[in-house]
Amino acid sequence: MLESIIQEFESHFEHEERIMAETKYPEARAHRAHHQILLARLFSILQDVQAAQSVHVEQFLLVLKTLYDDAIDADSYLKLHLEQTA
Ligand SMILES: [Fe+2]
Repeated sequence: MLESIIQEFESHFEHEERIMAETKYPEARAHRAHHQILLARLFSILQDVQAAQSVHVEQFLLVLKTLYDDAIDADSYLKLHLEQTA
């Protein structure tokens, strides 16, 4: 389950990174770095979950926070850029 969520994040990040390159988003480098930090967080959670063979509430909340950090926080600046360059 967590593996498929991480795959969805990776696909989402790749899609965004293509859009950032195509539209010459000025914050692309920082946003890509942010994606890498979020993926590292998710893979760390996955390792912990696989080692423990269970998911703790804190780990689940951290996955949700990762979604929030990208989709609500960082992506809002990209969305604004896309609206301004459309
Ligand atoms: Fe993003």
